Amino acid sequence: MADKFISIEGIAKRYPSAANGTATIFENLWLSMPRGEFGCVIGHSGCGKTTVLNILAGLDKATEGVVIVDGQAIEGPSLDRAVIFQSHALLPWRTVIGNVAYAVSSKWRHWNKAKVLAHAQEFINLVGLSGSEHKRPSELSGGMKQRVGIARALSITPKIMLMDEPFSALDALTRGTLQDEMRRICLETGQTTFMITHDVDEAIYLADKIFLMTNGPKAVLAEVVENPLPKDRARADLHRHPHYYALRNHIIDFLVTRSKTYAETAKHHDPRNVPVVAPAAIEPRLVNAAT
Ligand SMILES: Nc1ncnc2c1ncn2[C@@H]1O[C@H](COP(=O)(O)OP(=O)(O)OP(=O)(O)O)[C@@H](O)[C@H]1O
Ligand SMILES: [Mg+2]
Repeated sequence: MADKFISIEGIAKRYPSAANGTATIFENLWLSMPRGEFGCVIGHSGCGKTTVLNILAGLDKATEGVVIVDGQAIEGPSLDRAVIFQSHALLPWRTVIGNVAYAVSSKWRHWNKAKVLAHAQEFINLVGLSGSEHKRPSELSGGMKQRVGIARALSITPKIMLMDEPFSALDALTRGTLQDEMRRICLETGQTTFMITHDVDEAIYLADKIFLMTNGPKAVLAEVVENPLPKDRARADLHRHPHYYALRNHIIDFLVTRSKTYAETAKHHDPRNVPVVAPAAIEPRLVNAAT
């Protein structure tokens, strides 16, 4: 049986609506991920990505269905799950180390101050912020603030890390650097991560699996795309990999056309058995063999 460290089981989200009584954002959504995997969700604005992430975080409740992480149903927020938002959400009156230490001491309440600070420092070093421990958020660049958010999230050794477009507000250069750091850290620590992005290349670089959601209302998970690129991929060389364009085109085609028409065309959509695909370029020798 596949390892379902994260298991989203038939969730729906509905809101009361003036027009017809109920607005269904999505329903009967099933999705699972094994431990240590990096999953990215891609879909158009409003399809319900943040809602799914918030339900996983325990910050929102599904109208139907359950979400299970490491064998336990989610019933509310927990320090087992760390969230990194698009806006850094740091405490402005605390320093860098103060922000990280606050999370650490919330998780391990019996630790003394020295142990908390030493642990917080370890994660500040991990994200390359040593030397800036005593700065306050107002003294930091956008990239540095996001690094503090990452250090804070990782410092509580969460079972899962949830990220909602964490790099989208950053300039391209800083975004690239943080993507590199995130990838290095996730590979080193085996951190299970679920991330939302609108950036196709970001998903191709970071994710093991890419979840494609159709447009709302009544959005569905249409496909799970397995990343065919090697684990040791480098950001600068992505486009040189023979499978890169096949993968990228597949995702772009989905966003441009299939995400809108899926409901009419996929008559036999089975939400519990969503197709798993690994778009790959046709090997040159196979082309030759066929001709
Ligand atoms: N409190 C609410 N009442 C009614 N509808 C809501 C409420 N909160 C969110 N929605 C609707 O739920 C849908 C999904 O919202 P969500 O924020 O999850 O989308 P998203 O996929 O994250 O979009 P984006 O890419 O723009 O961040 C949207 O259509 C939104 O209008
Ligand atoms: Mg969102």
